[in-house]
Amino acid sequence: MFDYFSYQNNQLCAEQVSLADIAQRFGTPCYVYSHAALTDGYRQFEAAFVGHEHLICYAVKANPNLAILHLLARLGAGFDIVSGGELQRVLAAGGGAGKVVFSGVGKTVAEMRMALDAGILCFNVESEAELVRLNEVAGQMGKIAPVSLRVNPDVDAKTHPYISTGLKQNKFGVAYTEALTLYCRAGDLQHLRVTGMDCHIGSQLTETSPFIAAAEKVLTLVDALANEGIRFEHLDLGGGLGIRYSDETPPSIADYVAALLGALQGRSEKIIVEPGRVLVGNAGVLLTRVEYLKHGEEKNFAIVDAAMNDLMRPALYDAYHHIQPVQSKQDTPSPQSSPASGRGGERERQSLIYEVVGPVCETGDFLGHARELAIEQGDLLAVMSAGAYGMSMSSNYNTRPRAAEVMVSGTVAQLIRERETVQQLFVGEKTFLL
Ligand code: LLP
Repeated sequence: MFDYFSYQNNQLCAEQVSLADIAQRFGTPCYVYSHAALTDGYRQFEAAFVGHEHLICYAVKANPNLAILHLLARLGAGFDIVSGGELQRVLAAGGGAGKVVFSGVGKTVAEMRMALDAGILCFNVESEAELVRLNEVAGQMGKIAPVSLRVNPDVDAKTHPYISTGLKQNKFGVAYTEALTLYCRAGDLQHLRVTGMDCHIGSQLTETSPFIAAAEKVLTLVDALANEGIRFEHLDLGGGLGIRYSDETPPSIADYVAALLGALQGRSEKIIVEPGRVLVGNAGVLLTRVEYLKHGEEKNFAIVDAAMNDLMRPALYDAYHHIQPVQSKQDTPSPQSSPASGRGGERERQSLIYEVVGPVCETGDFLGHARELAIEQGDLLAVMSAGAYGMSMSSNYNTRPRAAEVMVSGTVAQLIRERETVQQLFVGEKTFLL
């Protein structure tokens, strides 16, 4: 499951670089990404779509580091953004605006202007009010805005309720039953050009059936609109393909794309997808050091130097991330025994069940519950599958500077984001003077 992170000589490595070396060079906590894993995931999408016109728009929110965006841009990716900030990141990383789709329920006038100025591929519009606003803004700028409506297909994604987006009760998209009327309305607005239809039903989906159900509903609408004379250049089927964190068995990228293409039944519209997690999730780990071991009355705690501010998924969704020692058991150096020390012989480390927790003052600050680990103070641990929604959801809670980020390719490890300093956290704050 973590192909690019493997033990070599009992040391967990990212590609060919040992995580222990990375910890020594760059400190902890630290996110480490595999260049090969990122490249491979993207290429799997490209290969799966061969023969069908397509655009793979990486969902920037999953991990917006400029080095990652740059790598994907060079591979030919487009981008799915949800803010003006993400657009600026894409452009700064060398991504082409002409391959950007702009999703999200709350686009501001300023963000619309910025995107129209840049010349993005499409606005994925999520309400009638947004349609009206976009028409006005485009009109003021003397531009025509390319639009898709994000249709809410009312399909159960069968995932965590916080990351399910395609149900009637969710805030996303326009109601399926109103889409036809709204498309006709959009067609009448002077400064809009209808170019596509969009849907996204949720994240961390581990089956193809909800994707197919959503695609079929979208296609039924496409047919209905064809009767009204509205035709589309592209269909955007969103992101959401899940990854393996523990024992999930999500479809492969190839099977997922084959299922989408199958649902199209020979149609030739260009397909856009917006994968985030599946491209970066298992391409990254969070490297952390054990600060203390604490044996409480009921539980043992491994207190590590990463916390919920670095990786909030466990606290927020009760998400599972596998946690592995960087140095595997077999190779653990045992303290040199001397009879006088009383420690006696080669010492097998004792495995205990630990709560792996951070230093933040919240009981919800945990990275893993009940993990069997043979560890000592000072050991390094790797929190796996942390490449997606790890760094991007990090915060400065407890005035904790954000972690460093490192990219590995082969035998080379490079810093792609410096560890934040406390001084940087103070920037912009002022003393209140009466
Ligand atoms: N497109 C749209 C419109 C989205 O809202 C999202 C994710 C994606 C694409 C990418 O979905 P992906 O392929 O990564 O599943 N923080 C949560 C995940 C939130 C996903 C939000 N939208 C987590 O850590 O699980």
